[in-house]
Amino acid sequence: MLVLGVESSCDESALALVNEEGILASVMATQIDIHALFGGVVPELASREHARLMPLLFDELWRRAGWEDDPEAGWAGVDCIAVTRGPGLLGSLLVGVAFAKALAFARGIPLIGVNHLNAHLLVAGLEKKLEFPALGVLVSGGHTHLYRMDGPAEMDVLGRTLDDAAGEACDKFAKMAGLPYPGGALLDALGRRGKADANLFPRPYTHNDNLDFSFSGLKTAGATWLERHPEARFPMGKSPAKERLDSASSLLCDAAASYLLAVAETLVIKARRALSVFRPRSLVVAGGVAANSVVRRVFRELAEQEGLELHVPSPALCTDNGVMVAWNGLLLARAGYRHTLELSAIPRGQAIPFDWLRDEIRPCAQTKA
Ligand code: KG4
Ligand code: ZN
Repeated sequence: MLVLGVESSCDESALALVNEEGILASVMATQIDIHALFGGVVPELASREHARLMPLLFDELWRRAGWEDDPEAGWAGVDCIAVTRGPGLLGSLLVGVAFAKALAFARGIPLIGVNHLNAHLLVAGLEKKLEFPALGVLVSGGHTHLYRMDGPAEMDVLGRTLDDAAGEACDKFAKMAGLPYPGGALLDALGRRGKADANLFPRPYTHNDNLDFSFSGLKTAGATWLERHPEARFPMGKSPAKERLDSASSLLCDAAASYLLAVAETLVIKARRALSVFRPRSLVVAGGVAANSVVRRVFRELAEQEGLELHVPSPALCTDNGVMVAWNGLLLARAGYRHTLELSAIPRGQAIPFDWLRDEIRPCAQTKA
């Protein structure tokens, strides 16, 4: 089965063609340079960029698939169109959903709406077969969730962040240090050059017995440290060009390493606690922050200690991409699910309905966003 995936939930426009054997073609355009001018994603600009980029990306995708000279032959092999329907920025989601609907209608191909968070986790199974049940740790720019995963359509949230997501906590520390948006990957690069002090920052909201997260305390500790060490920061208002990051002080590199260790160990503390709630066959860590070197290392250690099979997508599949959407669509379509052209986009914070068609219409049970 060959699936075309469409992703536009935030500031990355992406398309991909995926089948059971793997990735046939994948294209992505990031809008980071535009949003960096404003220090964060500007929703209106993001939607406009998605609308501008989607047709260009589509032509490039067909070219990379080798179908440039015979687009019809390419279409003949596409079985399903999958699109991220939420959670995300509503205007951005609407562009992708409308684009996918237009293609599905014009070509008479089934459409399937995909939950972006599920797609992040499930893409781990594209690289290495995923055994269920799995404990899923989803760490991205907007979400930090723990899941019990029983199958591609059976995902139960066990815990979630009460305030900032792990990625936001990284981006905010980076921003306060004077780094450009989004700073997570830059913080990672600085941290690799530094030495972590495990006592410099707290493991926030871990002295309890629940599976939720709260990163605001860590953010405050980071802000306080930066206030006390102004010499470690890049001058505010003048984000350093990437090449100037080489001049970062060892003080800042050490703090970056310590901060990332605090984020990673906090995730591990709660993940270990979740393992006492149920015993999975595998452990999945996914989302943009799963690209982080410290996060990858500490979860490798956890998996070894617990004797669990670890799945962490390769870094390019951790951040937003079209492959994960196509792959999730493939898993759902193979199980007989699809949507009608009435598919709705669901913004962040709203429940995503299980409103697939599957032989008969399934009851509209709700899952938390
Ligand atoms: O999953 P993603 O691409 O988008 C969302 O769905 O939110 O995640 C983006 C987040 C951003 O906060 C970004 O700074 C963070 O992932 N990120 C990283 C790294 N690469 C991306 N954080 C730490 N280390 C990285 N290497
Ligand atoms: Zn994402």
